Amino acid sequence: MQPGSESWIDVGAADELRRKPLQQVLLGRTRIALVCKDGEFSAISGVCNHVGGPLGEGRLDGDYVVCPWHYWKFHCRTGEGEPGYEADRVPAHEVRVEDGRVLVQRQAATKRSRKAHEPHPLARKPQRADGPVRVLGLSTTTMTAGQPRYSTSEDLLESALRHAAQTLDCETRLIAIRDLKFRECEGFYSKSSRACTWPCSITQMDADDQMEQVYEGVVHWADVIIVSTPIRWGGASSLYYKMVERMNCIQNQETIANRHLLRDKVAGFIITGGQDNVQAVAGQMLGFFAEIGCQFPQFPYVAHSRGWSAEDMENNERYVRESASLHEGAAALVSRCVDTAGLMIKGTLGAAALCRGGRKGHGLDTRAEHSAAVQATTDG
Ligand code: FES
Repeated sequence: MQPGSESWIDVGAADELRRKPLQQVLLGRTRIALVCKDGEFSAISGVCNHVGGPLGEGRLDGDYVVCPWHYWKFHCRTGEGEPGYEADRVPAHEVRVEDGRVLVQRQAATKRSRKAHEPHPLARKPQRADGPVRVLGLSTTTMTAGQPRYSTSEDLLESALRHAAQTLDCETRLIAIRDLKFRECEGFYSKSSRACTWPCSITQMDADDQMEQVYEGVVHWADVIIVSTPIRWGGASSLYYKMVERMNCIQNQETIANRHLLRDKVAGFIITGGQDNVQAVAGQMLGFFAEIGCQFPQFPYVAHSRGWSAEDMENNERYVRESASLHEGAAALVSRCVDTAGLMIKGTLGAAALCRGGRKGHGLDTRAEHSAAVQATTDG
């Protein structure tokens, strides 16, 4: 028998392994989820059917192993999915205890099978439909539900969209983010970059989550995205951050899959505040939208603030309502964005546009240790 070809593999002392109800063990390089329930061992593949989550690092729920990434469940003895999803099964392995050692059969007793899952509508290939330039406005200001108030940032955004529709013949859509019910990003990326999926794991699991409307608009519909925000304590609004944290899944596709969900899209920003910090807020917004692949026109944002010494918000509102130049500025911003979008739609960017070197999450082709070794060889 060749070394390593044994069919029963010793994975450790039974006394030790009994201490945890679920753990990962290795058969060579094969990951196994080893379960100990009521003193009995069982073993299933340690690789989840969904996107490969480590089942041995999950938890036990009754007879089911729960994947730590998105909570799919597999029976701890048969490997079958939970009731209704039995066809979604991971391989099960025989286990026996001999002389106080736990042995797992290398060959699985059952095969992996995947139930066909209807792809989520957002998963379709982004493809620009013919037609006029489409402008999406995302307003991130917050206000009391059912008690509307004047918002400087949203007023300027509405001016921009009106100009786009009436003067530039664009299709327009406004999403007030405060009207959507959606969950915060729950940190799937923090488990593993591959646990952050497109479409977002939350969107796939929770049919009531309305962030889908933003994804649909940004990825599949818009040519131009105009985001408006108030300044809150020197930053963008909390809703802006809640929204962009959920858009990390778009950026993450660039990082883990070299997949560009946003191509030939243009972004612009409207930032207003009673107090200052316009450049910092703009810098954050530009940085994020650049990382998800947006282009920018010249002068990609318009802004207004009363400055540090002011505490007269009534005047601030009045200035924005009455300032023709601010509203003209918002219209000019959307014109610049639409002009740039026109260039993008008609033209095409060269291959260098998507070159990975130096971009986020791209490993280098050299290492410090490697360089040191080469240096030592050269020196020798
Ligand atoms: S549920 Fe296991 S990888 Fe998603």
